Amino acid sequence: MSSRIRRVGILTSGGDSPGYNPCVRAVVRQALHYGWEAWGIKSGYAGLLRGEIIPLTSRSVSGIIASGGTILGSSRCDQFNTAQGLRQALRNLNEAGLDALVVVGGDGSLRGARALDEAGIPTLGVPGTIENDVPGTDMAIGVDTALNTALGAMDRIRDTATSQQQVFMIEMMGSRSGYLALMAGITGGAEMACIPEIPFTLEQVEREVADAYIRGKKHCIITVAEGTVPHASEIAAYLEAHAEQTGFGVRLSMLGHIQRGGSPTAHDRILGTRLGAAAVDQLYQGNHGVMVGIVDGQLICTSLAEATATTRALEADDLQFATILAR
Ligand code: F6P
Repeated sequence: MSSRIRRVGILTSGGDSPGYNPCVRAVVRQALHYGWEAWGIKSGYAGLLRGEIIPLTSRSVSGIIASGGTILGSSRCDQFNTAQGLRQALRNLNEAGLDALVVVGGDGSLRGARALDEAGIPTLGVPGTIENDVPGTDMAIGVDTALNTALGAMDRIRDTATSQQQVFMIEMMGSRSGYLALMAGITGGAEMACIPEIPFTLEQVEREVADAYIRGKKHCIITVAEGTVPHASEIAAYLEAHAEQTGFGVRLSMLGHIQRGGSPTAHDRILGTRLGAAAVDQLYQGNHGVMVGIVDGQLICTSLAEATATTRALEADDLQFATILAR
């Protein structure tokens, strides 16, 4: 057990996701439970460089469990990734007397956590990103809410797509990972999912659409991840130009940042709470330089080096389902 820690900081970073607030709440209250002080760093690494570090009490995190976003604020901060940025961050952490840090965020944020840990600030990572591209956890905080938001939109789009006999491209967030597009495709009944992990051509998409028409489908829903090549807008333009061959009119709908907001689902509240508390527990046990995650229902720790070295792979079964269930 670590008796050295008296004051722990929490920082939320990168593309925020629903469930950050339950996580902040859990970190603060678990830290107070151990008799530590909890301090919040505002606006992610950008706020850390500006020295925006404030004390948090149990009341500071009252009533936030149901709100999306993060009460601490978040940012993407290139300056932190420089030697001078890291130096400034260390100086501000020392001046604020923080003995340890919990960082909630995705890939880039966890790389920052690793740099701080290696520079001597005991740091714990918590995976938070709607893309679900961080290895070392089955789900990152925010994925479940984002997926449910996407499904709500898809259900509405299907109504009008069926009435109008249209093919709808629905673009989901996911610059590096097709997780949201794939899982929304499977659970939302899409005819096809276009994702960065599986190369495809415009001609292939056209064939799928034409085939759906011949099979008697009244609509054709295609989920597309933000990071595909060709991009959703190119696919839509191509299908528009080949509408006579496919039998369907074409529409494109981009969900964008809508998926990042909203009240966290029960799943994300539980996940944020468990991982936030677990991060503090790990620090209490003297562990640092790791990310907490849940795999097959078990809490596990992955070194920050490992968690940031690769991208979480999609399940082979899910990839197969997507094709079979679309028939
Ligand atoms: O990292 C999560 C994410 O939502 C990505 O899916 C998306 O590409 C990106 O953030 C958008 O970032 P920003 O809000 O900075 O435009």
